[in-house]
Amino acid sequence: MPTGAPQTWHYGLVARYWAEFNDGFRPHEIPYFRQFIENDGEPALDIACGTGRLLLPYLRAGLDVEGCDVSADMIAACREKAQREGFAPSLHVQPMHELDLPRRYRTLYVCGAYGLGSTREQDAQALDVFHELLEPGGTLLLDVEVPYADSRHWKYWPAEARTTLPEPESEPEKREVAADGAEYGLRSRLLAVDPLDQSVTFEMRVEVWRGGVLEAWEVHRLDARYYFVNELRLMIERAGFRDIVVHGDHVDAAPTSDDEFVVFVARK
Ligand SMILES: C[S@@+](CC[C@H](N)C(=O)[O-])C[C@H]1O[C@@H](n2cnc3c(N)ncnc32)[C@H](O)[C@@H]1O
Repeated sequence: MPTGAPQTWHYGLVARYWAEFNDGFRPHEIPYFRQFIENDGEPALDIACGTGRLLLPYLRAGLDVEGCDVSADMIAACREKAQREGFAPSLHVQPMHELDLPRRYRTLYVCGAYGLGSTREQDAQALDVFHELLEPGGTLLLDVEVPYADSRHWKYWPAEARTTLPEPESEPEKREVAADGAEYGLRSRLLAVDPLDQSVTFEMRVEVWRGGVLEAWEVHRLDARYYFVNELRLMIERAGFRDIVVHGDHVDAAPTSDDEFVVFVARK
Protein backbone atom coordinates (compact mmCIF):
# COMPACT_ATOMS: atom_id res chain seq x y z
CA MET A 1 0.00 0.00 0.00
CA PRO A 2 1.20 3.54 -0.62
CA THR A 3 2.41 5.27 2.49
CA GLY A 4 0.71 8.27 4.10
CA ALA A 5 -2.64 8.85 5.73
CA PRO A 6 -5.71 7.49 3.95
CA GLN A 7 -7.21 10.03 1.60
CA THR A 8 -10.06 10.71 -0.80
CA TRP A 9 -10.00 12.30 -4.21
CA HIS A 10 -12.93 14.69 -3.74
CA TYR A 11 -10.91 17.89 -4.10
CA GLY A 12 -10.01 20.45 -6.74
CA LEU A 13 -11.02 19.41 -10.24
CA VAL A 14 -12.69 16.22 -8.98
CA ALA A 15 -14.99 18.37 -6.81
CA ARG A 16 -15.71 20.57 -9.81
CA TYR A 17 -16.44 17.52 -11.94
CA TRP A 18 -18.71 16.14 -9.22
CA ALA A 19 -20.65 19.42 -8.93
CA GLU A 20 -21.12 19.56 -12.67
CA PHE A 21 -22.02 16.00 -13.61
CA ASN A 22 -23.09 14.01 -10.56
CA ASP A 23 -26.65 15.14 -9.81
CA GLY A 24 -28.29 12.42 -11.93
CA PHE A 25 -26.21 9.56 -10.46
CA ARG A 26 -28.21 6.65 -8.89
CA PRO A 27 -31.51 8.61 -8.71
CA HIS A 28 -33.38 5.86 -6.80
CA GLU A 29 -31.36 6.73 -3.68
CA ILE A 30 -33.05 10.12 -3.36
CA PRO A 31 -36.63 8.97 -2.60
CA TYR A 32 -35.31 6.09 -0.50
CA PHE A 33 -33.60 8.31 2.09
CA ARG A 34 -36.28 11.01 1.79
CA GLN A 35 -39.07 8.74 3.09
CA PHE A 36 -37.25 8.36 6.42
CA ILE A 37 -36.80 12.12 6.81
CA GLU A 38 -40.42 12.82 5.89
CA ASN A 39 -41.64 10.23 8.39
CA ASP A 40 -40.94 12.20 11.58
CA GLY A 41 -37.23 12.30 10.73
CA GLU A 42 -36.42 16.02 10.96
CA PRO A 43 -33.96 17.53 11.51
CA ALA A 44 -31.67 15.37 9.39
CA LEU A 45 -27.93 15.44 8.76
CA ASP A 46 -26.47 14.41 5.41
CA ILE A 47 -23.09 12.98 6.39
CA ALA A 48 -20.56 13.31 3.55
CA CYS A 49 -23.08 15.33 1.55
CA GLY A 50 -20.64 15.98 -1.29
CA THR A 51 -21.99 18.62 -3.67
CA GLY A 52 -25.58 18.08 -2.54
CA ARG A 53 -26.93 15.37 -4.85
CA LEU A 54 -29.35 14.31 -2.07
CA LEU A 55 -29.33 17.45 0.07
CA LEU A 56 -30.55 19.82 -2.65
CA PRO A 57 -33.68 17.83 -3.58
CA TYR A 58 -34.52 17.60 0.14
CA LEU A 59 -34.14 21.37 0.58
CA ARG A 60 -36.41 21.86 -2.45
CA ALA A 61 -38.95 19.59 -0.71
CA GLY A 62 -38.85 21.92 2.32
CA LEU A 63 -37.11 19.43 4.62
CA ASP A 64 -34.88 20.53 7.50
CA VAL A 65 -31.55 19.01 6.45
CA GLU A 66 -27.96 20.05 7.17
CA GLY A 67 -24.82 18.71 5.52
CA CYS A 68 -21.22 17.92 6.37
CA ASP A 69 -18.22 16.62 4.48
CA VAL A 70 -14.48 16.26 4.99
CA SER A 71 -13.77 18.14 1.74
CA ALA A 72 -13.98 21.93 1.87
CA ASP A 73 -14.07 21.92 -1.95
CA MET A 74 -17.16 19.67 -2.07
CA ILE A 75 -18.86 21.80 0.61
CA ALA A 76 -18.02 25.03 -1.27
CA ALA A 77 -19.57 23.62 -4.43
CA CYS A 78 -22.62 22.43 -2.48
CA ARG A 79 -23.05 25.85 -0.87
CA GLU A 80 -22.78 27.60 -4.22
CA LYS A 81 -25.39 25.32 -5.80
CA ALA A 82 -27.74 25.80 -2.84
CA GLN A 83 -27.32 29.59 -2.91
CA ARG A 84 -28.10 29.66 -6.64
CA GLU A 85 -31.51 28.26 -5.69
CA GLY A 86 -31.98 30.64 -2.77
CA PHE A 87 -31.11 28.18 0.02
CA ALA A 88 -28.61 28.74 2.84
CA PRO A 89 -28.23 25.34 4.53
CA SER A 90 -25.92 24.78 7.49
CA LEU A 91 -22.90 23.01 6.03
CA HIS A 92 -19.91 21.84 8.04
CA VAL A 93 -16.40 20.83 6.96
CA GLN A 94 -15.56 17.96 9.33
CA PRO A 95 -14.57 14.31 8.95
CA MET A 96 -17.37 12.00 10.03
CA HIS A 97 -15.40 10.37 12.86
CA GLU A 98 -14.81 13.77 14.49
CA LEU A 99 -18.18 15.44 13.95
CA ASP A 100 -18.70 18.01 16.65
CA LEU A 101 -22.02 19.79 16.16
CA PRO A 102 -24.33 21.53 18.62
CA ARG A 103 -27.57 20.11 17.22
CA ARG A 104 -29.08 16.63 17.65
CA TYR A 105 -30.88 14.94 14.75
CA ARG A 106 -33.81 12.61 14.16
CA THR A 107 -32.13 11.17 11.04
CA LEU A 108 -28.52 10.71 9.99
CA TYR A 109 -27.81 9.34 6.55
CA VAL A 110 -24.48 8.40 4.98
CA CYS A 111 -24.58 7.68 1.26
CA GLY A 112 -21.58 6.41 -0.68
CA ALA A 113 -18.99 7.53 1.84
CA TYR A 114 -18.51 5.13 4.76
CA GLY A 115 -14.98 3.66 4.69
CA LEU A 116 -13.51 6.32 2.38
CA GLY A 117 -10.26 8.02 3.33
CA SER A 118 -10.31 6.70 6.89
CA THR A 119 -8.73 4.02 9.06
CA ARG A 120 -10.66 1.06 10.45
CA GLU A 121 -10.47 2.68 13.90
CA GLN A 122 -11.90 5.92 12.55
CA ASP A 123 -14.75 4.03 10.88
CA ALA A 124 -15.65 2.46 14.25
CA GLN A 125 -15.29 5.84 15.96
CA ALA A 126 -17.67 7.38 13.40
CA LEU A 127 -20.42 4.97 14.52
CA ASP A 128 -19.97 6.15 18.13
CA VAL A 129 -20.17 9.76 16.94
CA PHE A 130 -23.35 9.01 14.95
CA HIS A 131 -24.93 7.50 18.05
CA GLU A 132 -24.06 10.62 20.04
CA LEU A 133 -25.48 12.94 17.35
CA LEU A 134 -28.91 11.26 17.25
CA GLU A 135 -31.86 12.11 19.44
CA PRO A 136 -33.15 9.09 21.40
CA GLY A 137 -35.30 7.06 18.98
CA GLY A 138 -33.57 8.67 15.98
CA THR A 139 -32.54 6.70 12.90
CA LEU A 140 -29.17 6.02 11.31
CA LEU A 141 -29.15 5.13 7.60
CA LEU A 142 -25.78 3.92 6.41
CA ASP A 143 -25.13 2.42 2.99
CA VAL A 144 -22.10 0.49 1.77
CA GLU A 145 -21.07 -1.17 -1.44
CA VAL A 146 -20.42 -4.85 -0.67
CA PRO A 147 -16.77 -5.92 -1.15
CA TYR A 148 -17.54 -8.36 -4.00
CA ALA A 149 -19.71 -5.92 -6.01
CA ASP A 150 -17.01 -4.58 -8.26
CA SER A 151 -15.02 -7.22 -10.11
CA ARG A 152 -12.49 -4.52 -11.00
CA HIS A 153 -10.90 -4.86 -7.56
CA TRP A 154 -12.52 -8.04 -6.16
CA LYS A 155 -10.57 -10.12 -8.70
CA TYR A 156 -7.32 -8.94 -7.04
CA TRP A 157 -8.01 -10.46 -3.62
CA PRO A 158 -5.90 -13.60 -4.37
CA ALA A 159 -2.16 -12.92 -3.86
CA GLU A 160 -1.20 -14.16 -7.31
CA ALA A 161 -3.49 -11.71 -9.08
CA ARG A 162 -2.09 -8.81 -7.08
CA THR A 163 1.39 -9.25 -8.55
CA THR A 164 0.13 -7.37 -11.64
CA LEU A 165 -0.78 -4.23 -9.65
CA PRO A 166 -0.64 -1.29 -10.03
CA GLU A 167 -2.69 -1.23 -13.20
CA PRO A 168 -1.05 0.61 -16.10
CA GLU A 169 -2.23 4.08 -17.12
CA SER A 170 -5.47 3.74 -19.05
CA GLU A 171 -6.65 5.55 -22.14
CA PRO A 172 -8.67 8.69 -21.36
CA GLU A 173 -12.37 8.00 -20.96
CA LYS A 174 -14.78 10.03 -23.08
CA ARG A 175 -14.89 13.71 -22.25
CA GLU A 176 -17.98 15.39 -20.82
CA VAL A 177 -18.89 18.99 -21.58
CA ALA A 178 -19.60 21.32 -18.64
CA ALA A 179 -22.04 24.25 -18.67
CA ASP A 180 -19.19 26.70 -19.38
CA GLY A 181 -18.00 24.68 -22.38
CA ALA A 182 -14.98 23.08 -20.65
CA GLU A 183 -14.49 19.38 -21.39
CA TYR A 184 -13.68 17.08 -18.47
CA GLY A 185 -11.83 13.80 -19.02
CA LEU A 186 -11.41 11.26 -16.22
CA ARG A 187 -9.30 8.13 -16.01
CA SER A 188 -8.79 5.99 -12.97
CA ARG A 189 -6.62 2.99 -12.23
CA LEU A 190 -6.24 0.59 -9.36
CA LEU A 191 -2.96 0.97 -7.48
CA ALA A 192 -3.29 -1.57 -4.66
CA VAL A 193 -5.59 -4.05 -2.96
CA ASP A 194 -5.05 -5.19 0.64
CA PRO A 195 -7.41 -8.08 1.43
CA LEU A 196 -6.27 -8.26 5.06
CA ASP A 197 -7.31 -4.64 5.57
CA GLN A 198 -10.20 -5.06 3.08
CA SER A 199 -9.07 -1.87 1.39
CA VAL A 200 -8.27 -0.70 -2.12
CA THR A 201 -6.43 2.32 -3.50
CA PHE A 202 -7.41 4.03 -6.74
CA GLU A 203 -5.75 6.88 -8.56
CA MET A 204 -7.66 9.30 -10.75
CA ARG A 205 -6.37 11.75 -13.32
CA VAL A 206 -8.74 14.56 -14.25
CA GLU A 207 -8.14 16.74 -17.27
CA VAL A 208 -9.94 19.91 -18.30
CA TRP A 209 -9.81 20.81 -21.97
CA ARG A 210 -11.04 23.99 -23.64
CA GLY A 211 -11.01 24.56 -27.39
CA GLY A 212 -8.79 21.51 -27.86
CA VAL A 213 -6.18 22.80 -25.38
CA LEU A 214 -5.37 21.07 -22.09
CA GLU A 215 -6.18 23.81 -19.56
CA ALA A 216 -5.59 21.93 -16.27
CA TRP A 217 -5.00 18.49 -14.88
CA GLU A 218 -4.71 16.90 -11.45
CA VAL A 219 -3.99 13.45 -10.03
CA HIS A 220 -5.76 12.34 -6.85
CA ARG A 221 -5.83 9.17 -4.74
CA LEU A 222 -8.74 7.42 -3.06
CA ASP A 223 -8.45 4.81 -0.30
CA ALA A 224 -11.62 2.82 0.29
CA ARG A 225 -12.31 0.14 2.88
CA TYR A 226 -14.98 -2.49 2.29
CA TYR A 227 -17.13 -4.12 4.95
CA PHE A 228 -19.04 -7.38 4.82
CA VAL A 229 -22.65 -7.12 5.90
CA ASN A 230 -22.38 -9.24 9.06
CA GLU A 231 -19.18 -7.50 10.11
CA LEU A 232 -20.71 -4.04 9.85
CA ARG A 233 -23.89 -5.16 11.59
CA LEU A 234 -21.78 -6.17 14.61
CA MET A 235 -19.92 -2.85 14.55
CA ILE A 236 -23.20 -0.91 14.48
CA GLU A 237 -24.53 -3.03 17.33
CA ARG A 238 -21.35 -2.40 19.33
CA ALA A 239 -21.84 1.35 18.95
CA GLY A 240 -25.10 0.98 20.87
CA PHE A 241 -27.70 0.90 18.10
CA ARG A 242 -30.77 -1.35 18.25
CA ASP A 243 -33.46 -2.64 15.86
CA ILE A 244 -30.86 -3.01 13.09
CA VAL A 245 -32.42 -3.89 9.75
CA VAL A 246 -30.56 -4.36 6.46
CA HIS A 247 -32.18 -3.28 3.21
CA GLY A 248 -31.19 -4.09 -0.36
CA ASP A 249 -29.94 -1.48 -2.81
CA HIS A 250 -32.00 1.46 -1.52
CA VAL A 251 -35.31 -0.39 -1.45
CA ASP A 252 -37.57 -1.18 1.48
CA ALA A 253 -36.78 -4.92 1.32
CA ALA A 254 -34.20 -7.43 2.53
CA PRO A 255 -31.01 -7.64 0.47
CA THR A 256 -30.22 -10.48 -1.91
CA SER A 257 -26.82 -11.95 -2.85
CA ASP A 258 -27.00 -9.98 -6.09
CA ASP A 259 -27.33 -6.57 -4.44
CA GLU A 260 -24.25 -4.43 -4.91
CA PHE A 261 -25.24 -2.03 -2.15
CA VAL A 262 -26.95 -2.54 1.18
CA VAL A 263 -28.37 -0.03 3.62
CA PHE A 264 -28.30 -0.40 7.39
CA VAL A 265 -31.28 1.10 9.18
CA ALA A 266 -30.66 1.36 12.91
CA ARG A 267 -32.28 3.11 15.82
CA LYS A 268 -30.72 4.88 18.78
C1 LIG B 1 -18.91 9.32 -3.39
S1 LIG B 1 -19.06 10.93 -2.67
C2 LIG B 1 -20.75 10.89 -2.13
C3 LIG B 1 -21.35 12.27 -1.91
C4 LIG B 1 -22.84 12.26 -1.54
N1 LIG B 1 -23.10 11.55 -0.30
C5 LIG B 1 -23.64 11.64 -2.65
O1 LIG B 1 -24.14 10.53 -2.45
O2 LIG B 1 -23.74 12.26 -3.72
C6 LIG B 1 -18.16 10.70 -1.18
C7 LIG B 1 -18.09 11.94 -0.31
O3 LIG B 1 -17.64 11.54 0.96
C8 LIG B 1 -16.77 12.53 1.45
N2 LIG B 1 -15.95 11.87 2.45
C9 LIG B 1 -15.05 10.90 2.25
N3 LIG B 1 -14.52 10.50 3.41
C10 LIG B 1 -15.12 11.24 4.38
C11 LIG B 1 -14.97 11.29 5.79
N4 LIG B 1 -14.13 10.48 6.41
N5 LIG B 1 -15.74 12.16 6.47
C12 LIG B 1 -16.60 12.97 5.82
N6 LIG B 1 -16.76 12.97 4.48
C13 LIG B 1 -16.03 12.11 3.77
C14 LIG B 1 -16.02 13.00 0.22
O4 LIG B 1 -15.40 14.25 0.42
C15 LIG B 1 -17.15 13.03 -0.80
O5 LIG B 1 -17.80 14.26 -0.82
